[in-house]
Amino acid sequence: MTDPDIKKGLAGVVVDHTAISKVNPDTNSLLYRGYPVQELAATQPFEAVAYLLWHGELPTDAQLAELRRLERAHRALQPDVKAAVDLLPASSHPMDEVRTAVSVIGARDTAGIANVLDAVGTPEQNLERSIRLFAELPAIVAYGQRRRRGLAPVDARDDLDYAANFLWLTFGDDPSTGGDVLDPVVVDAFNRSMILYAEHSFNASTFTARVIASTLSDLYSAVVGAIGALKGPLHGGANEAVLHIFDEIGEAANVSAWLDTALAEKRKIMGFGHRVYKRGDSRVPTMKASLDALVEHYDRPDVLALYETLEAEFVQRKGIYPNLDYPSGPAYNLMGFDTLTFTPLFVAARVTGWTAHIMEQQAANALIRPLSAYNGPDERHVEGYVPDASEAEVQERPEEAAG
Ligand code: COA
Repeated sequence: MTDPDIKKGLAGVVVDHTAISKVNPDTNSLLYRGYPVQELAATQPFEAVAYLLWHGELPTDAQLAELRRLERAHRALQPDVKAAVDLLPASSHPMDEVRTAVSVIGARDTAGIANVLDAVGTPEQNLERSIRLFAELPAIVAYGQRRRRGLAPVDARDDLDYAANFLWLTFGDDPSTGGDVLDPVVVDAFNRSMILYAEHSFNASTFTARVIASTLSDLYSAVVGAIGALKGPLHGGANEAVLHIFDEIGEAANVSAWLDTALAEKRKIMGFGHRVYKRGDSRVPTMKASLDALVEHYDRPDVLALYETLEAEFVQRKGIYPNLDYPSGPAYNLMGFDTLTFTPLFVAARVTGWTAHIMEQQAANALIRPLSAYNGPDERHVEGYVPDASEAEVQERPEEAAG
């Protein structure tokens, strides 16, 4: 038998259509529902981009106001979620907290659905579920960081939009931020990062969500699976890993020697490279502009020097360009987020894309079930086993009868 043409990692395989976003590797560009992501990041609040991903169009003023009303209605840290997170060790990875929290929300929201066929929900229910996750996640991510710092949760503020409220929930009265957490430079940089992280076609976590949705499981289960996929350092965990690298290097003057060793050890340099973009990531300049603004705001030229030196040296030596995680890691660090909080921030952003994809999958569903080429032992038998006649009957059934 000839070996089938295996596309390891599904590289280059087109598995379905999507109208949600377009990644164009030839121009290194990314469109959400047709709009270049950098235009959206420069002009829109994150709530409007969430609406765009779900509905296909940017909201009118009235539609945006209604989404904001719903988002505010679900902002609070719910007692069941807090209780579940508090059961986890304080040293748990916050991605495990977020994954647990989404499970709790899902169990709460789908309680009483006795027939598994109904769990998938109607399109209207799934839009409501998407808004609920979008609205509840900031308080969960913020609580994770505050819990690690020994701080009690703070109440959400109805006078603030999504991005500013998220920062408030995380830092509130935390003195480590120097009291300027709601400075427009910080809020704008944070809003942009959420938009840039919101969606990226069939990346590993989104594909995971679509696989789960394709079984007609519920939206929450699909998001839980996506969080598991995002946790890995080859995917979402990279923004966190970038900061570990920065910590290891220390300062710009150490970059060359550090790179010599890292490349000799064949280490992957986190925040560089991409499966699809091979000549740069169009989201990087937009996030880098925000990083520049934050560097100036916090007066941290040392961060910029390290960033630019490592980028220049790595690109020169390997011809591999930074991805979005490269500027967003140090940007989140300057804002005051713990390194461990970075990937949960990615969850809060990407939940909009995931849920849009889950709904798109459900609207034109086909169970996702690829084939594999078996390369294990040849058929063998358990000693003493005597097959039943009915087994032979199944094995001999002609192929067309299988349906
Ligand atoms: N550091 C060092 N070398 C890298 C690299 C990196 N960040 N990214 C790619 N390479 C090298 C590989 O070692 C490989 O070299 P080889 O041909 O000599 O073996 C070559 O470039 C091709 O890389 P490969 O891993 O096969 O590409 P891929 O498309 O499968 O992987 C990533 C893409 C993202 C998994 C990979 O670039 C990576 O691991 N990057 C770091 C993690 C990261 O930032 N992830 C976030 C992605 S948004």
